[in-house]
Amino acid sequence: MEKLIVHGGSPLKGRVNISGSKNSSLPILAATLLTKDTCTIRRVPDLSDTNYMVRILGELGAEVERASGVVVVKAEKIKSVAPYDLVRKMRASICVLGPLTGRLRKCTVSLPGGCVIGDRPVDLHLKGLEALGAEILVEGGDIRVNAPKKTFKGSTMNLMGKHGSTVLGTDNIMMAAVLAKGTTVIEGAAAEPEVEDLANFLIKMGAKIEGAGTNRIVIEGVKELHGAEHTVIPDRIEAGTFLCAGAMIGEGITIKRVLPEHLKAVTDVLKKCGFPVEIGKDSISIAPNPAAKGFDLTTLCYPGFPTDMQAQFCALACVINDVSTITETIFPQRFMHVAEMKRMGADIDLQGATARIRGGVKMKGAPVMASDLRASAALVLAGLVTEGRTDVNRLYHIDRGYEHLDDKLASLGAQLERVKE
Ligand code: UD1
Repeated sequence: MEKLIVHGGSPLKGRVNISGSKNSSLPILAATLLTKDTCTIRRVPDLSDTNYMVRILGELGAEVERASGVVVVKAEKIKSVAPYDLVRKMRASICVLGPLTGRLRKCTVSLPGGCVIGDRPVDLHLKGLEALGAEILVEGGDIRVNAPKKTFKGSTMNLMGKHGSTVLGTDNIMMAAVLAKGTTVIEGAAAEPEVEDLANFLIKMGAKIEGAGTNRIVIEGVKELHGAEHTVIPDRIEAGTFLCAGAMIGEGITIKRVLPEHLKAVTDVLKKCGFPVEIGKDSISIAPNPAAKGFDLTTLCYPGFPTDMQAQFCALACVINDVSTITETIFPQRFMHVAEMKRMGADIDLQGATARIRGGVKMKGAPVMASDLRASAALVLAGLVTEGRTDVNRLYHIDRGYEHLDDKLASLGAQLERVKE
């Protein structure tokens, strides 16, 4: 196992390129299963999650080639079963469910387990498939789908859940419905940019989709899809993480190759705090401000503040000489980073799904345990500004979702070492 040793206190300065989006790449790679033709996906970040999705496609029978950010898939013949051994390592593997249903109409996909941020149900994915006329049987840890041609038809459904809409659920239904006869209307659809990116790829494959990027998506089923090429959008969460780093320490950094409109909720909070934020066409610059004010934020579905940025803002709040609050509404238990930050001396009071952070207190490096992807990134951020050495254990969480995070931070002046234990 590897860990990251962060030596705090080195100022950050310079420019960094943001990678392609992990959360776009995963469903887009899965969507290549919808056609027998060749698909070429560009700007796929080099991450263990995307490598894992490439492996899943291969195990399902597709020919896959990958070279420096470009993945070429030809899924001429595919298997209909994605067993537990294949899907258990990555929850997002569930996004093969929609394409397998759309293309084969009969498939078995093992239920991914929960994870540290919550129990992660898939009831809305199943509700959507049932609305399309599929029979679903959940048995022995597997989801068995049978969608005979006669019953597999477009329909109107609502995918809004008690914590908002579902991103991968919307993706799955879109990927099934593009090959279902007739019109499908998804009300309460997730409007995240990654859903829109997937829709744009499906449209290039010949799908008829309107409204992606809003809460109402309309899909007109087609008989078949063809191969296509696509470049995934920039990773707004990686971008937001670097903005936090740039606000926390140093003389100012610029993130490049981003779509600033996808980061509005994040940059709005940063600006309101008083950090100098400069937004360019495809870049954002930020610098620390010792007089920055605290913030009160609540995570919400897009275009609200993303849950995937909550832990990093918790780290940021620790350096703001004021009180901040963070309320989590999407995954109310997603506060595993709080206990670890407290070990570094952070003053955080967690009441239910609200964290109250009194920033500006002196923190000291400590060995900490990464619990999930974004929590781990937050611990690295805290380590960057904290006196002494912070050892972030279980580095594999970070490698799931940040392309060369240590190299990118080092290029900005951070001092960190990746070591094998
Ligand atoms: C995706 C992202 C993840 C992000 C999350 C919320 C990917 C690969 N992952 O995860 O990084 O944190 O969106 O923006 O894109 N829910 C149900 N029933 C369902 C499905 C979800 O109740 O069938 C609930 C979840 O428990 C959660 C909320 O809905 O409370 C949102 O989850 P969802 O949008 O589905 O998350 P993912 O798509 O898995």
